[in-house]
Formats: sequence, structure tokens, C-alpha cells
Amino acid sequence: MTDSGIDVLREKIRRAEQGGGRERQDRQHAEGKLTARERVEILLDEGSFEELDALVEHRCLDFGMADQKIPGDGVIAGYGRIAGRLVYLFAQDFTVFGGSLSETNAKKICKVMELSMKMGAPMIGLNDSGGARIQEGVASLGGYADIFLRNTLASGVVPQISAILGPCAGGAVYSPAITDFNVMVKDTSYMFVTGPDVIRTVTHEEVTKEDLGGAMTHNAKSGVAHFAVDDDRACLSLIRELLTYLPSNNLEEPPVVATEDPSDREDASLDQLIPTEANKPYDMKRLIEVVVDDRRFLEVHEHFAPNIIVGFARFGGRSVGIVANQPAVLAGCLDIDASVKAARFIRFCDAFNLPVVTFQDVPGFLPGTAQEFDGIIRHGAKLLYAYAEATVPKITVITRKSYGGAYCVMGSKHLRTDLNLAFPGAEIAVMGPEGAVNVLYRRELQKAADPVALREQKVEEFRRKFANPYVASDRGFIDEVIEPRKTRRKIIAGLDMTRTKRDKNPPKKHGNIPL
Ligand code: HXC
Repeated sequence: MTDSGIDVLREKIRRAEQGGGRERQDRQHAEGKLTARERVEILLDEGSFEELDALVEHRCLDFGMADQKIPGDGVIAGYGRIAGRLVYLFAQDFTVFGGSLSETNAKKICKVMELSMKMGAPMIGLNDSGGARIQEGVASLGGYADIFLRNTLASGVVPQISAILGPCAGGAVYSPAITDFNVMVKDTSYMFVTGPDVIRTVTHEEVTKEDLGGAMTHNAKSGVAHFAVDDDRACLSLIRELLTYLPSNNLEEPPVVATEDPSDREDASLDQLIPTEANKPYDMKRLIEVVVDDRRFLEVHEHFAPNIIVGFARFGGRSVGIVANQPAVLAGCLDIDASVKAARFIRFCDAFNLPVVTFQDVPGFLPGTAQEFDGIIRHGAKLLYAYAEATVPKITVITRKSYGGAYCVMGSKHLRTDLNLAFPGAEIAVMGPEGAVNVLYRRELQKAADPVALREQKVEEFRRKFANPYVASDRGFIDEVIEPRKTRRKIIAGLDMTRTKRDKNPPKKHGNIPL
């Protein structure tokens, strides 16, 4: 040992960096997972990681724990850079007591969360943990609640991203659940409140861990996760990509990324994209990809409620959030899942100064007792509320159908949307021609000598008169009817026009969104 004590320090750091030791790290690799330290290195810009609390140890004396201390105590915490921008992070180390959360381990996480809020930089959690440190009991539970509180306080202040890279069970799931985005790795990660064994005992259901809480379950069925990726590396690279669209905090503008893609680029194929037959599906993603910068669209929640599309893209280098009905799935109807998915996304965009660009082709809300009994009224209202409340620039393009309540909800002029555009084939009315004629001409149709011919005639009349964009544009509800090929240019002009937008909601503690 030298007088300066450097050797002692180096030895302590070496022990901290070893985590749970070689054997457990090998086990981690054998399962197709990276170690916590490898994840941190890959996620961050090379050499940018600065670790905090590397020498923290747990204080538990029970169950022989006094003799089992590993510096760092199962979580790596600190800050670093992603594409040169400051981020805070923690990475649970499964090789140390299964990455379980101790009292001191929670304190480390809370410390970086508080720094991230104070400094205004994104918070990233790399989760891989057996849950509450069983030996510590309620002290560990308290640690979880301390984290949940900070997740809640940070919501809308800094972007919070969770990667699920192993187990995440019990109450532990509620930290990722509060964060803005959850990325799950296929085959190696799972999330559930109660596991298969408890479920078997209580409800007698047989279910595997994967079916209950694997990546695709939460991406496609529950909507808990926003992305499913093949392995740890793909997860970490997705987080880097996601951050390129986001500001570091709610007081910053999103980063501008230079593009060679001309802002006046027109695409003649768009004039033919939308079928003239109202009931013929087409792929709205094709439209999105054609109009955004460099055809780059980062879809969020791709596998959940695919009848609505949400994700990030850029126009003229500026990040936006895109919300679009997908006529290729359920005819683009709004249902409960689609409403909740889009509402949460819009609220994220509004919190972080991302303009919302909406592409609308929606025949209405999905009919049926299942939807009504499960509360489509309550859940559909969330979407309406999110659009109405958002004060970021809002631009809506109606590509085809815009009927009934869905017209109002999907970023209509009446909800403070700044620019409302429509294609010439747009149909904006209370309901489709067939439905309208059935209601308006019921008596005449009953009495008619040739009801089929009369219906056809009335449907055609209604279509000509109402199923077009001009009734709405006469009233100024549509600002401009545009040729589809000009969509990109018009959106970019609209975004330039709204760059200095200032709008606000009445003073209040917070609204009461129908949860
Ligand atoms: C302490 C734990 C631990 C825990 C795992 N370990 N979970 N230590 N507290 N919660 C330790 C193991 O003893 C083992 O130590 C090492 O981590 C690896 O665990 P294995 O079981 O060998 O790994 P594996 O086979 O991959 O199984 C992983 C697992 C399993 C499925 C996560 O470990 C497990 O079921 N753990 C308990 C999960 C749990 O019930 N947690 C509490 C949930 S309640 P050695 O020394 O052998 O390497 C909860 C409430 C949160 O979390 C509430 C918040 C409000």
C-alpha cells in the first residue's frame, strides 16, 4: 500500500467492477444476456461513463448478510453521454444478489433520478432484477416506493426510458410502468405483478412465464411495452435512436437533425395511394414513409392496437410525433386500445415540445357491446382530452374518411389544431352515406315502389353533397384542400409557421383526464 492510499482505492474499485464474480457473469452470458457493466459501456458514448456510489454497500445484518458485501451492491449508477448529450442511468446487476433492490441500492437510484431532474437530462433504467431484496424486507419495499415517487415527479420533466433485460416482477414493474417508454428483449425479459405459480394457486390457470409476461405479450396484448427487440445490443441501440428525437427536458426544444431531403419534395405516387372506393384498405405507413425526412419513421407501440399508428419522425430536420389511423387494420376504427395508445403518446409529445402531426382516415369508433361494456366512452374521451389539452403545434391531414365523433376527436380544428388540411377525396360528415340515408329516408324507403333504386339515388346525392372536404372547408374547419403529392411541403410550411407558437391552458393544479 502506498501512503497516498491509491492502491486501496484501486482495489475497492476493482472489487466493485467484478460485481458478483466471473462465474455468475458467465451464467449471464450463457443466457444470452450482457452484464450490467457491458450494457452501460455499449449504451453510452465511448469512455463517457462517470460512476457514482461505486463503493456503496448494503447495511443488512440478517441472514448472514454482514459477511456478504459487494461494493456497489448490485446496481451501477451514474451519468454519461449519448451522441454527446448528458443522460443519467442505472443498471441493475443480476450477478449481485440477483440484482435485487436493497435499501442502499434504492438510494443510489434515487440519487441519479434527482440529478436527472435537477440537470434536465433523460433518465434511463436498465432493469434486470429478482425484485425486492428478500433479506431486507420492508426497507427494500420502502426503496421501491421512493423510486416510484421520483418516477412520478420526473414524469413530464425529463424523458424516462426503461429497458427490461431480465426479470421484472411484483411491484417492481411499477417503475417502468410510470416511465415514458419500455423496451423489452425477446426471450430473456419478462414482467408480471404475480408469477405463474401464484396464478396457478389462485385462479388455477396454467401459463408460462413467457406467455404471461414476455416481450411480445406486453408489446402486442397488454400495451405495457412499446418496443420488442431481439437482444440486449438491439435494445441499447434503440434507446440511442429514440433519444435523437427527444429534447433533454420539458424546457428544451427537440434537437434539429440536418437533412438533405428537400422540403419541397413532391411525390406523385401519393395522388394514387388512397383508393377511390371508400371501403378499400391501404397502408397508411406508406404515406408516412413517403412524406417524412429520409423515409425514417421510428414506430412506437408497433404491435399494440395496430389500427392506429404512433411514432417519431422529422420534417425539415425537426422532430414531430405522428399519429395516424391505419385503414389496413379494422378499417382504421378507433377502439379502446387505439384511443389509449394515441392519448398517451400525444401527452408525451405535448410534455416535451414535439409538434403532433395527425393523418386521419377514420370511419368512427368501433361498434359493439365489448367496446361499450369495457368503457369506450371513458377511454375514447382520453384521446379527445389529450388532443384538446395539447398546446404544442398541431397539424392534421384528412386523407379520406372523417366521420362522426372521430372527426371531432382526431385533431379537428375545434380542438385548437393550428393547420387542418384535407385531400380532395376526403369525406367529412356525421356518418357515411349509407347510414345517413337509412336514418333520413327510412319512411320513404319503406313506402317506395323500388327501395333499392331510391336508396342508391339518395346515397349518391348524399355522397355528392356531404361526403367531400368542401362543406368543412366552406366553414374554415379545413384550412386548405391539398393535392396529396404536396403533403410534405405543406406540413413543413405549417411547422415553420407554428415554430413560435404560444398557447396555454387555464391555471389549475392539474386536469382530471378520464382515467
Ligand atoms: C435476494 C435474490 C433475489 C431477491 C434472486 N436472488 N432474487 N436475492 N432477493 N429477491 C439471488 C438468488 O438467491 C441467487 O443468489 C441469485 O440472486 C440468482 O438467482 P437464481 O434464482 O439463481 O436465478 P434464476 O434461476 O435466473 O432465477 C431468477 C428469479 C429467481 C426468477 C428472479 O431468483 C426468483 O424467483 N427470485 C425471487 C423473486 C421474488 O420473489 N422477489 C420478490 C418479489 S416481491 P446466488 O447467491 O445463488 O447467486 C417484490 C416486491 C416489490 O419484488 C414491491 C415493490 C412495491
